[in-house]
Amino acid sequence: MCGIVGYVGEKRNAQDVLVNGLKRLEYRGYDSAGIATLDEKGEAHLARSVGKIVELEQVLLEESHTGKIGIGHTRWATHGGVTVENAHPHSAGDVYLVHNGIIENYKELKAKLKEHKFTSDTDTEVLAALVDSNYGLNISLKDAVAKSLKQVRGTYGIAVISPREPGVIVVARLGSPLIIGVGKDETIIASDASALLGYTREAIYLNDGELAVCTKDSVDVYNLSLKPQNHIPEQIEGDLEQIQKGGYPHFLIKEIMEQSSTLGNTLKGRIDTKTGKMHLGGPNLTQKEMQSIKHIVIVGCGTAYYAGLLASYYLEQLVPELTTEVVIASEYRYRSFHIPKNSVALIVSQSGETADTLACLREIKKRGVKTLGIVNVVGSTIAREVDGGTYVHAGPEISVASTKAFTAQVVTMLLFGGMLAEHQGGSPQLLNDFVQELAKLPSEIEKTLRDYAGEIGDLAKKYAKYDDALYLGRDTAYPISLEGALKLKEISYIHAEGYASGELKHGPIALVDENTFEIFNILDNWLYDKSLGGLHEVRARGGKAIVLTDAAKEKQIEADDIVRIETPLKHLVPILLNTLQQLFAYHVAVARGNDVDQPRNLAKSVTVE
Ligand code: AGP
Repeated sequence: MCGIVGYVGEKRNAQDVLVNGLKRLEYRGYDSAGIATLDEKGEAHLARSVGKIVELEQVLLEESHTGKIGIGHTRWATHGGVTVENAHPHSAGDVYLVHNGIIENYKELKAKLKEHKFTSDTDTEVLAALVDSNYGLNISLKDAVAKSLKQVRGTYGIAVISPREPGVIVVARLGSPLIIGVGKDETIIASDASALLGYTREAIYLNDGELAVCTKDSVDVYNLSLKPQNHIPEQIEGDLEQIQKGGYPHFLIKEIMEQSSTLGNTLKGRIDTKTGKMHLGGPNLTQKEMQSIKHIVIVGCGTAYYAGLLASYYLEQLVPELTTEVVIASEYRYRSFHIPKNSVALIVSQSGETADTLACLREIKKRGVKTLGIVNVVGSTIAREVDGGTYVHAGPEISVASTKAFTAQVVTMLLFGGMLAEHQGGSPQLLNDFVQELAKLPSEIEKTLRDYAGEIGDLAKKYAKYDDALYLGRDTAYPISLEGALKLKEISYIHAEGYASGELKHGPIALVDENTFEIFNILDNWLYDKSLGGLHEVRARGGKAIVLTDAAKEKQIEADDIVRIETPLKHLVPILLNTLQQLFAYHVAVARGNDVDQPRNLAKSVTVE
């Protein structure tokens, strides 16, 4: 997520506060950064760089900023590549502005702002130009900002300065946090309380739709109609590390719990519940290509591979006659593989840097096959080398174990399938069913995580001491069984294996005894009765069986433990069950005292082969 810091005072150099504050926000993930300050003469100085804060510090060596007021930003690119021109702060005339969020109507606003010479392809520069266009000679910065924000649709957390009012920072928020630290003869603003620690513990938390005028010794809050709003400064609780995790004890649980909101970003503008259609910008495929694709190769490693496996079921359901092939990148790259004509390859990667996946991409491109990225990190190597593609917009995933990215990857590939279905005569009813379920998915994930967290926590305590586990499922419950086993093994170090439950009797059932536990993902669908078969086989041999299911309680199930989720969803139930598996793995790992965010032997991105 992007980060914002601002400072106005009389005892510190703004540059130092801004850089220090941006470093506090590094954990949120970013790919470029910048600051703007006003010096004693009121002149503006702008410094921006791609890469890490250390790069920005190099730039600042060339032109140090002496002013005591400024704003800074770390950008996690979502719209517009990772370039200096797209880095914040953006400027227009006498306005310097940083922004978190998405201005949805930026294109129509941009079309009206003819006087401004745009240098970036961001929505933020449009906002800066809009404020400048409203910042007439007898208009205050506060008035210009308020007038502009009434013209935008979308979300924002912003900080704005101008050489015309060198002692003032105007801030505002709608849907993206903005906190104002009230110090002694200084005011520090930030998108995250961690940047305020060490300067003050007194903070004003702006509400949505509010704007504030900050000086070194005052903070005046208004609504957008400039009616004063009363705020009493609150105490900032917690220490730095705790705050960066949003109050959660680990990044992993934060990322598990936030996937309902990050999935909202994945879906934004990509489904239409009225028309029952899905839409993805980015695949860079012509209408003819969309109509002619008959085969899809899905490439990934680890969780990305399992996301592809789950997506392949949905793609085949949605697109008549489509065939799919899901491959492990580290194997595929060395095989003498052949990809038929009328194929595309989906290259799935959270980091966009996984060496084996990148090598596969290059091999596939050599064969003239169109490659589409399903990537989270904007501007990553894979994202830059694919022929087209779509960002999954899951936000930075800090914890080594991938959770919210899995969900976002599956949904993004499902959206691609929906577009293909429309171009290839897929069932409009089925397409609409998926669209309606996707629209409900974020809230269903939130409800599932909230309503069953207790049961899952108890299960984790009960099974944390086991050393062997099997995860079993059929059909779309099979890929999540593989993923569930990976989650457990990589953070709890329990030897967990995922299997198609129909495979149990072909060997793995020999592992079943009182020292193993089996997690069955059982869907209340056409395979329900079949899925119970494996469960009975395990129970008959003394295995400890846990069932995760959407089957109603009227459906009798014999197991040691059952978690039944209530949901209107059908097709996407595996995604809900997988969030329970994520929680289970997390709590088991905590119970076993492991380093949940940095498990032994693992790296977040495997850039070596
Ligand atoms: C998932 O929890 C693991 N950290 C690992 O399997 C990961 O999914 C794999 O290394 C692929 O990473 P990528 O998505 O960044 O390419």
